Amino acid sequence: MEQTFIMIKPDGVQRGLVGEIICRFEKKGFSLKGLKLMNVERAFAEKHYEDLSAKPFFNGLVEYIVSGSVVAMVWEGKDVVATGRKIIGATNPSESAPGTICGDFAVEIGRNVIHGSDSVESARKEIALWFPDGTVNWQSSLHPRIAPLQITLPITH
Ligand code: GTP
Repeated sequence: MEQTFIMIKPDGVQRGLVGEIICRFEKKGFSLKGLKLMNVERAFAEKHYEDLSAKPFFNGLVEYIVSGSVVAMVWEGKDVVATGRKIIGATNPSESAPGTICGDFAVEIGRNVIHGSDSVESARKEIALWFPDGTVNWQSSLHPRIAPLQITLPITH
């Protein structure tokens, strides 16, 4: 099953948005497979954002991520990478629609509350970086109600 990496950034933690954000992913029907509240070192933040190292905002971005605790999560479900990005909304809060996390809770691109993997390949790399000891293997008992096409339900008459 597809997995994605989601990080609530320091502003999201400081503003008390952790429960709200988890709620949106849970209510959609995705399963939480990993969860850590942590402070990251500068070198770790630089590694996570290494693809952006040439960008003029890179140092500010790294400062932002190391400025406080973050919540690192792995969510699982059908098309969770692309759908997770839709739940988050456009990266720039000026462009993110109301109803999305950035659309509802952010104003500045440099304080946009949440990160979500942008591809299945990025998700695989980011989960390996943030969860080197692996994630938790469990199945929700609600899953047959959420994704009925993937299982055979008993027929009742
Ligand atoms: P993430 O999910 O956070 O990785 O965003 P993204 O993949 O949609 O965008 P990108 O990788 O281009 O940018 C990563 C992060 O850098 C964004 O979420 C912003 O926090 C920050 N960022 C991107 N563009 C700018 C910018 O122009 N100015 C500033 N200050 N920050 C930026």
